[in-house]
Amino acid sequence: MEKKRILSGMRPTGKLHIGHWVGALSNWTRLQDEYTCFFMVADWHALMSEYKSSSNIADTIMDNVADWLAWGIDPKRSVIFVQSRLPVHLELFMALSIITPLGWLYRCPTFKEQIDQLKEKEINTFAFLGYPVLQTADILLYQAHYVPVGEDQLPHLEVAREIVRRFHFLFKSEIFVEPQPLLTPVPRLLGLDGRKMSKSYDNFVALDEEDDMINKKVLSMVTDPQRIKKDDFGRPEVCSVFNYYEVFKPELKEDVRAWCTGARKGCKDCKACLAGLLIDFIGEKRKEKKRLLNEPDYLNQVLNEGAQRAETVACATMARVREAVHL
Ligand code: TRP
Ligand code: SF4
Repeated sequence: MEKKRILSGMRPTGKLHIGHWVGALSNWTRLQDEYTCFFMVADWHALMSEYKSSSNIADTIMDNVADWLAWGIDPKRSVIFVQSRLPVHLELFMALSIITPLGWLYRCPTFKEQIDQLKEKEINTFAFLGYPVLQTADILLYQAHYVPVGEDQLPHLEVAREIVRRFHFLFKSEIFVEPQPLLTPVPRLLGLDGRKMSKSYDNFVALDEEDDMINKKVLSMVTDPQRIKKDDFGRPEVCSVFNYYEVFKPELKEDVRAWCTGARKGCKDCKACLAGLLIDFIGEKRKEKKRLLNEPDYLNQVLNEGAQRAETVACATMARVREAVHL
């Protein structure tokens, strides 16, 4: 039986961190066994919000792709490509824009939220309103059955499904697969300061963090504020260090709980142990990433091949769209 297809994307807006691994990348690497996967660098989507400071976007793309490969995305099995290299994404975006009612886009919770939250980025633009339409084009071009996404992206998937139904109805041709979200339960991973992990808070451990920085960052993590001395009994459930153990070393969870609630180990030791785990977790992949970044020819070859393989599929879909809309 032919494998079902998956498409997912990430915006190259900065360094990848362990939140990206837990929330998306680790899942992507697993999905490669069961599905034909298309993994896309969504650089047009990134530019929609980062257009005022886009000079480093090319480096960020290479950096992110090197992380993908180092952490297990396999260019032999999966198609890895950069959105903007394939103008056909914009062509389908146009075709879909024509039939997408403005109301669907204004109603999208991500649109309203982002405009409020990212005031200084001035994303109250024509293109940003159409963000979910471009995302729909990304998905439909590859006839993806499933789109692994986080909960925040569900409204975009709903827009995509509505656009498919409207297209089929208006043009009397069933040419698209109606994509389904693939929601895998992802453990919650807080930032080092206990807030949401975010680039703008600078409260993360990068996927290529150096050992001494991992140590430094983990030692700076916020713990149970009521546990001041080693003799104080701690509350693991309010401590982000404990949250990290739950995510990265669940086998140790009960031991840590016992150290903490029984005041058997101090926070400093507890953190040192976690830092050691993260150093082991990241070290090998950091080396592999460095090796890849030193071989730009290889990275470019991966992206060129990815673009070619993607283009073949995407252009076949677009040919059918042109036919359906009588262009
Ligand atoms: N909007 C997605 C995000 O910010 C990125 C993205 C662009 C995407 N196109 C996509 C995700 C297509 C899934 C499918 O995370
Ligand atoms: Fe957190 Fe560990 Fe300290 Fe408990 S012992 S408060 S889990 S750092």
